[in-house]
Amino acid sequence: DKPIKIGVAGLGTVGVGVVKILAAHGDLLAARGGARLELVAVSARDRNRDRGVDLSALAWCDNPVDLAARDDVDVVVELIGGSDGPALALARETLKRGKSFVTANKALIAHHGKELATLAEEKGASLRFEAAVAGGIPIIKSLREGLAANAITGVHGILNGTCNYILTRMEREGLPFGEVLADAQRIGYAEADPSFDIDGIDTAHKTAILASLAFGTEPDMGNLAIEGIRTIAPVDIDYAAELGFRIKLLGVARQMEAGVETRVYPALVPLAAPLAQVMGGTNAVVVHADFVGRTVYEGAGAGEGPTASAVVADLVDVARGCGGPTFGIPAGSLKTAKAIPADAH
Ligand code: HSE
Repeated sequence: DKPIKIGVAGLGTVGVGVVKILAAHGDLLAARGGARLELVAVSARDRNRDRGVDLSALAWCDNPVDLAARDDVDVVVELIGGSDGPALALARETLKRGKSFVTANKALIAHHGKELATLAEEKGASLRFEAAVAGGIPIIKSLREGLAANAITGVHGILNGTCNYILTRMEREGLPFGEVLADAQRIGYAEADPSFDIDGIDTAHKTAILASLAFGTEPDMGNLAIEGIRTIAPVDIDYAAELGFRIKLLGVARQMEAGVETRVYPALVPLAAPLAQVMGGTNAVVVHADFVGRTVYEGAGAGEGPTASAVVADLVDVARGCGGPTFGIPAGSLKTAKAIPADAH
């Protein structure tokens, strides 16, 4: 079979992870996808930086958008980040050409998901973003495919590794917020702008995407009530523990009578609940659905290996020719989300 030729835009933590998996598991991926996954071209800001992987055989594009136009690129992987700018331009250009687009970019999908899904579906291309939510946990596939028989009533989870890591170390070591944040950045959990993590915006992007898959509403950041963890002090964590709770930053999407409620906030989670046991950079998602009941998913939510694992799984899907609408129902049928203020009840 002909190989699937891949262009990768962005060679940070996740991009390097993708290069490593493609090199380590060439035969395994070919067997699973029915075609070899061959990396042919990359685009990154600094061409000369030593990333610890061999890039010498690859074509370089200074402008990431040029990857889409290359005749030798079938699929583009976008790991640049940012809801607009080059990531959005690359997504549009790739899909317009009928090529599939794989991304880890939650901001892009949360802000432009409907437009890009519409374009992908018109052109018969795949738009895949498993890595955008909860890193290595296959929660997109679970909602889109595994739970397709169910009406979903609620989905909530710990969706930001940086915040969970910070809260965990504040609790265990009594350390102040700022000191632990620097470590989260060093490990490669935190966003380029860590305020996205600690102010709940990253969790909001992911919650918007989960809500779309769960409830068939278009991703809509305008509907989310967002509160982060910046003001949490070790003393709050201690008081919560005394009362039998642990503080976790949650993203919550629920089907209410009046519509879908989506919000992000530091919640008091009872110590006996599964989410209270999720510590460090780990993420976890709980889904409530009518026929299957409750399902719980847990795993690494950020970092090189876990996030790259999800990106490469999407590439295997593309190789297999897995189609179907991006958000589980055709983009044209996505409902406009109706705002339910989080303090309305
Ligand atoms: N900054 C994100 C986190 C990366 O900490 O979870 C994964 O999306």
